[in-house]
Amino acid sequence: MKKIAVLTGAGISAESGLKTFRDSDGLWEGYNIEDVATPEAWRRNPKLVQDFYNERRKNVLAAQPNAAHYALAKLEEKYDVTIITQNIDDLHERGGSSKVVHLHGIITRSQSSKNPKLTYPINGWEIKMDEVCELGSPLRAHVVWFGEEVPMIETAAQICTQADLFILVGSSLAVYPAAGLVNYVPRGVPKYIVDPKIPELNQNSSFIKIQEKATVGVPALVSQLLITD
Ligand code: APR
Repeated sequence: MKKIAVLTGAGISAESGLKTFRDSDGLWEGYNIEDVATPEAWRRNPKLVQDFYNERRKNVLAAQPNAAHYALAKLEEKYDVTIITQNIDDLHERGGSSKVVHLHGIITRSQSSKNPKLTYPINGWEIKMDEVCELGSPLRAHVVWFGEEVPMIETAAQICTQADLFILVGSSLAVYPAAGLVNYVPRGVPKYIVDPKIPELNQNSSFIKIQEKATVGVPALVSQLLITD
């Protein structure tokens, strides 16, 4: 089976009602990223950070996968598909994709504030301030903040190295190390990009560009890939 690596960003979940990061005036749900998505923010004001991610989790649980998530799951009928997502939502899983690598964590789990390897399922939508991990440290959202390591990056790079076909959906590729993954895709491997606003890439010319929203462009591309070899 041919291997397809798909790198997704916030744009794929936009039509499920979850906001992207950089489409709206530099703010994320009304906050500066530095006030909510950094280790410093957590040290300074853990309650603000916890409340912020509890709200995001509530939105994620209320959201549904869209036609783009479902189409990528359907692609598994004919291909060995691995999704590498920068998103912290679980819409790829709920859309039926079986192999999903979360580069920036997943908001439906909690994480020890002492050891990031200790993660737990969350009962409901809220992590409470008095909840602790097995080491006795407070629990926080299982997401990678700015300034933190991205433990899954090597796994993701390996997947890109082995791909026979690469698809990028809904990411501005503004954030490293995720943005560098494109460089691991071997030369000569067909590369597609689906985005209503095609981002500037240093390998721009080697991409086949589908300038559409995810719910239009991804199902169309998947249909085409399912009928060709
Ligand atoms: N369909 C497809 N793409 C869309 C849609 C849509 N309906 N709407 C917007 N987009 C595109 C935008 O044109 C943009 O290129 O999605 C992209 C969103 O880019 P960003 O907001 O920068 O999101 P992303 O690339 O996922 O951000 C990466 O930054 O803040 C961090 O950790 C966070 O994972 C996140 C990372």
